[in-house]
Amino acid sequence: MEMPVGTSERAKPSDQMGRSLRDLRVSVTDRCNFRCRYCMPREVFGPEHAFLPKAELLSFEEITRLVRAFAGLGVCKIRLTGGEPLLRAELERLVEMVAAVEGITDIALTTNASLLGAKAATLREAGLSRVTVSLDSLDPERFAAISDTQVPLTRVLDGMAAAEQAGLTPVKINAVIKRGLNDGDDILGLAAHGRETGRVVRFIEYMDVGTTNGWRLDDVVPAREIVDRIHAEWPLEAVEPAYSGEVANRYRYADGAGEIGVISSVTQPFCGTCTRARLSAQGELFTCLFGTKGHDLRGLLRDECATDEELDERLRSIWRVRADRYSELRTAETARHPKVEMSYIGG
Ligand code: GTP
Ligand code: 5AD
Ligand code: SF4
Ligand code: SF4
Repeated sequence: MEMPVGTSERAKPSDQMGRSLRDLRVSVTDRCNFRCRYCMPREVFGPEHAFLPKAELLSFEEITRLVRAFAGLGVCKIRLTGGEPLLRAELERLVEMVAAVEGITDIALTTNASLLGAKAATLREAGLSRVTVSLDSLDPERFAAISDTQVPLTRVLDGMAAAEQAGLTPVKINAVIKRGLNDGDDILGLAAHGRETGRVVRFIEYMDVGTTNGWRLDDVVPAREIVDRIHAEWPLEAVEPAYSGEVANRYRYADGAGEIGVISSVTQPFCGTCTRARLSAQGELFTCLFGTKGHDLRGLLRDECATDEELDERLRSIWRVRADRYSELRTAETARHPKVEMSYIGG
């Protein structure tokens, strides 16, 4: 019998460093209802800021078509991001469409959880696998100061509880640690919360993403320091990665109270195993979080009316020449270079 000839049967491409493509991170909006100081400082993202008009955003149909094409290159994991992805109307419809794509086995959502309470069950029914919540402090005042929002911390906590109730587990918490801001009580506070709830807290080194956050190396709290602080209180043991190329280094509590992760992009870069690509809400493909310019895939779909074969070929040719390893090459000089904003690329 003759084998069907389709894009999914073709060999999966590797980039210039032998890295395959497994993980596509899709930003669905550049808007957010928070104004975290390190991501969307209000001075820059104020009332005058021009966010993308609806017509500029990829439609759900366009995103799904791209996901299908990426699945043909080896992508099995999709992460929906923003800005705040739950600000995009009917996101559950996109989840359902993406979940139906052959080869996609994991759909995660990065969210600030402020709108999760109302949406968790619907998202789960649509096929969402799990959520990761951005939360940098469990102290209500510090939370408000860091996120620069009127949304009370209780809403975020309720959102996480709703996610668990709906089965969107394990809930992970992403906490960016910045020197002088939340490197005091918050580290043990967040760790204690993880131990009590079973949520996996991941402590993230503050990175020089974008150009608006005024990043300085002095602001970075090394992951080693965070692990040592927690270990002194509740002994930790290193755990093997859950999958090759995992971003977080994992540790489990010796007393069995769960695990934590640390993401040390600054002090211990992990570019060597980076199998991630990022799609902006406008349809630009970035092959690195610290990119300056993306590849315009929306134009390929909308203006050039590319066929599936042409799309497949274009994605393969982009991936084959990829040589990004920004974090390994980072210097004080490159940190000042213009780069795409986190709220635009979704982290
Ligand atoms: P899991 O699928 O749950 O393992 O999560 P993930 O590995 O997709 O990580 P997540 O999306 O939660 O990202 C956590 C943090 O790591 C965020 O601050 C990201 O910006 C950062 N991060 C994720 N991928 C990369 C990467 O490729 N390079 C760098 N430098 N940082 C990354
Ligand atoms: N450094 C590290 N992490 C950041 N995030 C946003 N900006 C930065 C930064 N400068 C995190 C958010 C979110 C994830 C997508 O990226 O907290 O959890
Ligand atoms: Fe919004 Fe997340 Fe950026 Fe905070 S870090 S402003 S919640 S997109
Ligand atoms: Fe991947 Fe770029 Fe992050 Fe390195 S800096 S891990 S290449 S996204």
